[in-house]
Amino acid sequence: MLTPLRTTNGSRCSAPRMVPLKLRVLFCLLCCLPRVHPLYWQDPSFFDFRPSVMFHKLQSVMSAVSAGRCKIPKGNGSYPVGCTDMMFGYGNESIFLRLYYPAQDQGPHDTVWVPNIEYFWGLSKFLGTPTFVGNILRLLYGSLTAPASWNFPLRTGEKYPLIIFSHGLGAFRTIYSAIGAALASYGFIVATVEHRDGSASATYYFEDQAAAKMENRSWFYLKKIKQEESERARKEQVRQRAKECSKALSAILDIEHGNPKENVLGLPFDMKQLKDSIDETKIAVMGHSFGGATVFQALSEDQRFRCGIALDPWMFPVSEELYSRVPQPLFFINSAEFQTPKDIAKMKNFYQPDKERKMITIKGSVHQNFADGTFVTGKIIGNKLSLKGDIDSRVAIDLTNKASLAFLQKHLGLHKDFDQWDCLVEGENENLIPGSPFDVVTQSPALQSSPGSHNQN
Ligand SMILES: *[C@@H]1O[C@H](CO)[C@@H](O)[C@H](O)[C@H]1NC(C)=O
Ligand SMILES: *[C@@H]1O[C@H](CO)[C@@H](O)[C@H](O)[C@H]1NC(C)=O
Ligand SMILES: *[C@@H]1O[C@H](CO)[C@@H](O)[C@H](O)[C@H]1NC(C)=O
Repeated sequence: MLTPLRTTNGSRCSAPRMVPLKLRVLFCLLCCLPRVHPLYWQDPSFFDFRPSVMFHKLQSVMSAVSAGRCKIPKGNGSYPVGCTDMMFGYGNESIFLRLYYPAQDQGPHDTVWVPNIEYFWGLSKFLGTPTFVGNILRLLYGSLTAPASWNFPLRTGEKYPLIIFSHGLGAFRTIYSAIGAALASYGFIVATVEHRDGSASATYYFEDQAAAKMENRSWFYLKKIKQEESERARKEQVRQRAKECSKALSAILDIEHGNPKENVLGLPFDMKQLKDSIDETKIAVMGHSFGGATVFQALSEDQRFRCGIALDPWMFPVSEELYSRVPQPLFFINSAEFQTPKDIAKMKNFYQPDKERKMITIKGSVHQNFADGTFVTGKIIGNKLSLKGDIDSRVAIDLTNKASLAFLQKHLGLHKDFDQWDCLVEGENENLIPGSPFDVVTQSPALQSSPGSHNQN
């Protein structure tokens, strides 16, 4: 879901190793329908094709699915987790983010995972499928919830460290809840930014105050980038994304200082609660894929970010000049399949003298193991769509979160017990490789043509 299709982008260099999804998505979704709940299909009344009837039947089938299997895991930390959305300002330069935070208690309402149908239309567009596929996706996933209580009051009385999170290409602010909510359950405030650079599947803003009052949203969708200009355009997007991370940070610190800008979404979450709740000296930036590239740019431009975690970063849009401009500690957590030796070599350029760098690879994982999409399908469909790898998605996200917590404790100077997972940062676990798979290759020439080399297509 978060990497573009070769057919819509055309460019090998800008769109590496993409998944041939397209109509296969639709096909698979429809094929999985009868498997979901065969009883519904034996019931002759199911084949009443009036749209409203179809809609309700499908919806009940799907809620049966999501009640059973499609669960985004909640974090293992001891804090209940709350969630809200914030938008500051009007027009396409407004800042939009989803905030996960430690909450007073478990609230009555979970957070809707993907809150507007336009996001599903955006995803269907991104996948190169017709709009009605978006409607089907909404039927499948429209009622799915993220593991956080919507707008529930913040647990006050403690200053929390803050993470700004940047999403991947074709993603948007809401689909990293397995990471956001888990880190919040360990006492972090996590702000996942929705980028306005044309890399989100869909996003919206309000023209002005009147539009916000009427909830008249202005939507825009993924911007097509021509192959011949992809390098320049992608680098430009990374710069805009990093600026948006910094602006989101500034907006949150304004709230912390007791001068909140107005949340134009008009949600019932009282922003005054956040006053004096964030530790300004403990701020990190994290991101997946295109968001991983954004991490390097943000670290180089904004020293308020004390360290960064890049989840399977997309190295194509990373400018060479950044290699020597990131003094902060940096942690690469990679999947087993996405990166080529060339990409790893680019990451290694960040290994400058006296700079703290760590890299691990999660065995049997795929690029999408870091986003929530990995949890919303069964094993067979998930494998087919490259949303799941051979590793159990819960194990992969658990390793990602715990290794991140250990790294954050060390470099933000936290006084918690996350150092129990220091070994994960070193790659010491049966499901981890220290460094990259290609490091092994250099030591043992016999393995030279093994993992990943076929990926350089
Ligand atoms: C934002 O809006 C301005 C003016 O309407 C436009 O020129 C600009 O291209 C837009 N930016 C993006 C990223 O869409
Ligand atoms: C909603 O916003 C659009 C674009 O700003 C505008 O053209 C339209 O008239 C607005 N709709 C209403 C009902 O105000
Ligand atoms: C919580 O911890 C258990 C046991 O370590 C693990 O199996 C599970 O995946 C964890 N859940 C998350 C969301 O990390």
